[in-house]
Amino acid sequence: MPYEDLLERLRKMNREAELGGGAKKIEEQHAKGKLTARERLDILLDPGSFVEIDKFAVHRATEFGMAERRYLGDGVVTGYGKIDGRTVFVFSHDFTVMGGSLGEVFGKKVCKIMDLALKTGAPVIGLNDSGGARIQEGVVSLAAYSEIFFRNTLASGVIPQISAIMGPCAGGAVYSPAMTDFIFMVEKTATMFVTGPDVVKAALGQEVSFEELGGAHVHAEISGVAHFTAADDEECLMMIRRLLSYLPSNNSELPPRVEPQDRPDRRLDGIESIVPEDPYKPYDMKQIILEVLDDGDFMEVHAGWAQNMIVGFGRLDGNTVGVVANQPLHMGGVLDINSSDKAARFIRFCDCFNIPIITFVDVPGYMPGIEQEHGGIIRHGSKLLYAYCEATVPKITVNIRKAYGGAYCAMGSKYSRADINLAWPTAEIAVMGPEGAINIIFRKEVASAQDPEAKRRELAAEYRSKFANPYVAAERGMVDEVIEPAETRIKLIKALDMLRDKEEFRPAKKHGNIPL
Ligand code: HXC
Repeated sequence: MPYEDLLERLRKMNREAELGGGAKKIEEQHAKGKLTARERLDILLDPGSFVEIDKFAVHRATEFGMAERRYLGDGVVTGYGKIDGRTVFVFSHDFTVMGGSLGEVFGKKVCKIMDLALKTGAPVIGLNDSGGARIQEGVVSLAAYSEIFFRNTLASGVIPQISAIMGPCAGGAVYSPAMTDFIFMVEKTATMFVTGPDVVKAALGQEVSFEELGGAHVHAEISGVAHFTAADDEECLMMIRRLLSYLPSNNSELPPRVEPQDRPDRRLDGIESIVPEDPYKPYDMKQIILEVLDDGDFMEVHAGWAQNMIVGFGRLDGNTVGVVANQPLHMGGVLDINSSDKAARFIRFCDCFNIPIITFVDVPGYMPGIEQEHGGIIRHGSKLLYAYCEATVPKITVNIRKAYGGAYCAMGSKYSRADINLAWPTAEIAVMGPEGAINIIFRKEVASAQDPEAKRRELAAEYRSKFANPYVAAERGMVDEVIEPAETRIKLIKALDMLRDKEEFRPAKKHGNIPL
C-alpha cells in the first residue's frame, strides 16, 4: 500500500478517536455545561505537552450488542504531559462513550498510566466523569476497578494522586477517587454517590435528588469527601495546577521552591490586634495565617468542612509549608470528630511528601457531649494525636491563645515531637481554662464565700496570672521561646531554615495501625 494511504489510515483513526462518542454526544456534553475529556486536558496541561497512550485501544466485549459499539480509546483518554514544566500522568474519562463507564480495556489503560507514574515518580491526575462499572462487561469491570484500587494503595504516599469529579460519578468511579489524596468537585455538574437516587428510593423509600444526595456542596460541607469545589471545569483545572505548584512530584523530592515577592525579615507590626483582649471573644485565625505566609498566598483545603479547623498550603520564604490551625471563629476552635479527621489526614499527607507543618494553636479543648462521645470522638480525636506524633517532617507550633488539656497535647505540643514551639505573650497553656478550674478545685471555697461571684472572680484572676500564660510552659522548655507577635514570620522562617536537613526516625515496621 502506498505510504500516503498508510498515513491517511493513521490520520483517519486519530480523527475518529478524537471524536469519542461522536459529534452529537459532544454537543450533549457541552449542553450540560461540561467540557469534553480532551478539552479538559488542553486546559490542564502546559500547551502542546500532552502525549497520548493507547489511543486505539478498544474493548473485547460482545454481549448486549457490544460488538457493534466499539470506540477507539474505549472511553478514556490517557497519557502524560507537563504542568509548570513538570511531568504528570493523566486519565480523562470520556462521558460521550457509554457514559465514561469502565470496562476491562478502559481499566487496563488507567493502570498502565498509574504504573508509569509510579516507576517515574510523577503525580497522577484523574478527571472523572463516569457511570461506574460498565454493566455490559460484567465482572471483568469489577476486576478492572479492583486493579485500580490496588494501584491507588501502591501509589499512596509515593506520588501525589489527585481526582477531579466533573460529572455524575457512581459506584467504582467514586471509590478510586476516595483513595487518592485530594478530590475536586465541579459545582452543579459533579455528583458522587455509591448508589444513586433510584436505588435509594427502591431500598429505603427515600426521595432525594442527585444534587441533594451527592452534589459538590454535600461533599465539600457535610461529608468531607471533597477537598475543593470549583464553579466550572476550567476553574477546577486551574485549581489543580495551583495545588500541584505546592507539591513535590514524589516522596523522595522536596516541594519546588517559588521565588517570593515577600521579604523573609518582614515584621508583622499590629498583628496582635487581630486577637481580642477578651479571651472569650472569637477572631478569624485566617487573618493571622495570611499575614504570616509569603505574599498572603494560602490555598485552603477542605475550606467548607469542619471549619473549626483550618488546613492548607502556603509558602514561607519560597518553601511550601502545610498550615494547621484552630479557627476560634467556628465553635470557638474546639476539636471535634470532623476537625480531628480533617487535620490528621492533612498532617499525614504533608509527612508523606516532605512538607513542613506549621501549627497555630487556639483551642479550648475537645468537644464534650453525647453526640461526640457516641460518634467516637475518642477514636477520631486520637487520630490527631497519632498523626502529629508519627510525622517526622519539620514541625513548628505557635501558641496564639488557648491550649488546654488534651487539645494542648494534640495540637503540635513538644510531646507530639514538635521541633520548635513558639508562644505569643497572649498564650494560655494549662489543663483547663480558669472558670472550669475554679469550679473543680475551689468549689467549696466559692460556695462558702459571702459573695460567691466575687470569690470566683478573685480566684479566676489568680489562676489566670499563675497558670493561664506561656511562662510556666517556657520555664520547663515546653515552649522554646515566647516571641513578640510581630516577629512570628521572621522566627518561623529562621526555624524552618535551621530544620532544613532535619532527620528523625521511627522504629521500622510494616505500617502503624492508626485508629481509623
Ligand atoms: C454502561 C452506562 C453506565 C454503566 C451510564 N451508561 N452508566 N453504560 N454501564 N454503568 C451509559 C448509558 O446507558 C447511556 O448510554 C450513557 O452512558 C449516558 O448515560 P445517561 O443515563 O443517558 O446519562 P445521564 O442521564 O447524564 O446519567 C448519568 C448517570 C446514569 C447518572 C451516570 O447513567 C447512571 O445512573 N448510570 C448507572 C450508575 C451506576 O449505578 N453505576 C454503578 C455501577 S456498579 P447511551 O447509549 O444512551 O449513550 C459499580 C461497582 C464498582 O460501579 C464496584 C467497585 C467497588
